[in-house]
Amino acid sequence: MYRKILIVLILAVACKPKQTESCALEPALYQLSDFPIGCAVDLNQREFNPTYARLLGQQFNQLSPENIMKPEHIHPQANYYHWSDADSLLSYCQKELKSLHGHTLIWHQQLPPWMEDFKGTEVEWEAMFKDHIQSICRHFKGKVRAWDVVNEAFNEDGTLRNSIWKQHLGAAYIEKAFRYAHEADPDALLFYNDFNLALNPKKRAAVLSYLKNLKQRGVALDGIGLQMHISIAFPENRAIESAFQDFSKAGFLVHISELDISVNPYGGTFQASADIWERQAQKLASVIGLYKQINDSKQYGITFWGLSDADSWIPSAFNREDYPLLFDGDYQAKAAYCKMKESL
Ligand code: G3I
Repeated sequence: MYRKILIVLILAVACKPKQTESCALEPALYQLSDFPIGCAVDLNQREFNPTYARLLGQQFNQLSPENIMKPEHIHPQANYYHWSDADSLLSYCQKELKSLHGHTLIWHQQLPPWMEDFKGTEVEWEAMFKDHIQSICRHFKGKVRAWDVVNEAFNEDGTLRNSIWKQHLGAAYIEKAFRYAHEADPDALLFYNDFNLALNPKKRAAVLSYLKNLKQRGVALDGIGLQMHISIAFPENRAIESAFQDFSKAGFLVHISELDISVNPYGGTFQASADIWERQAQKLASVIGLYKQINDSKQYGITFWGLSDADSWIPSAFNREDYPLLFDGDYQAKAAYCKMKESL
């Protein structure tokens, strides 16, 4: 009986489709690339997980903080800024010669309670908004490469999201955010960052026309962050190509700012297979190939939203099994990693 179970177990392990691929970790991703290769960082992991830290340090030359520069973390009370975590990430970047991409100044999520509950006139709201943006930009002046100044301000139908910022400052808050950020750190590149801009042409057209208008009016707006939380099933490559081309041809730097490729986008029971990992690798190769087609001067970089499948935001946010990143949960390279190296 036990022998039978053992044989079944051995067969199951032996037949399990291989997720990891063997390809050399060196040269590292960023060493093969003409543009920066970034990763969203979980500071705890970087500080307390040596395997995570080794791989992160080895493969990437630009980092985005996954959470620690967001308002709830960095500005938890009205008169208190919590700098130590972001400072620690900054000194790591400086020591390891990696650039830091600031994420994110103005968003409707991850706000501290005092900000959501703020009571005041429009003038007081603007003073609070300005202090938030400029205190952070001044603290990191000359030390971050760029900021995601405004994040996810649009709805899927192309209208402006009714965030607390729009409610209290009107639609002009977007322009004001860029003007205040530029005033505080004139050398930082400034980005607008959003999701579904490849998948949803209506949203893409609305964002593009809004940003072009700001630029025409002299607002310091350097680039677009296309988040690219995509999947092996969608969006189609020609939609991705349109997003890259539309923004770069309009003069914006293009940052693939939060890349991950879901293998189980519709949820439900997940069945791993060699074909799935290959499809994930192929999708990544297509993204890289299409990105390389835009003018070199517009290639700001590609950032993955997490290091390994164990670090991804997707399983907990959507309550589903998923494996969207370059390394598996044991920090072993997947087919997508190896394919990326061929594609860069
Ligand atoms: O801070 C609390 C902590 O005090 C508590 O102990 C812990 C227990 O679960 O939760 C912590 O908050 C979590 C937070 O991340 C910080 O770790 C939240 O539950 C969790 O929901 C939050 O998720 C983040 C999410 O943004 C919030 O919307 C993800 O890690 C982060 O990857 C994700 O990133 C966003 C980008 O910033 C913008 N674009 C979309 C992307 C994915 O949602």
